[in-house]
Amino acid sequence: MSHEALVLCRLDELVEGQARGFDPLGTGKDSVFALRHDGEVRVYRNSCPHLEVRLEYRKDRFLSVDGRQIVCYAHGARFLPDSGLCVYGPCLGDSLSALQWHAEADWLVLEADQLEAYAS
Ligand code: FES
Repeated sequence: MSHEALVLCRLDELVEGQARGFDPLGTGKDSVFALRHDGEVRVYRNSCPHLEVRLEYRKDRFLSVDGRQIVCYAHGARFLPDSGLCVYGPCLGDSLSALQWHAEADWLVLEADQLEAYAS
C-alpha cells in the first residue's frame, strides 16, 4: 500500500460556490473534485452513484448555477455539497464518495491509497 501524498492545489484557490476537478493519477480524466462550501473544503470521488460516470459537463462544472448543490449532468441528480448525499434524481438517498484530505502548509493533500482502487 502506498502512502504517497497527492497535492491537489492551494487551499485558497478553492472559492466558495465553485468546484475544481483534478486528475491526481494522471489518467487524462478528472477522477476527483474539490469545493468549498460554507467555508469548509470537501473532496469527492468524481463518480455518480447512479451509473458510476463522471458528473461534470465540462471542465470544473460540478455545481448548480447558484453554486449550492453538486449536479450530475448525465441525468440531473443533485447532491448536498457538505455530505455528498443525493437529494434529487435517480440515485436519491445514495451518496458521493467523500475523500479524506489534510492541509500541508497552504496545500490540499490527499493520500494516494484512497484512489488506487479507482485507478483501474
Ligand atoms: S449517472 Fe448521474 S444521475 Fe445518472
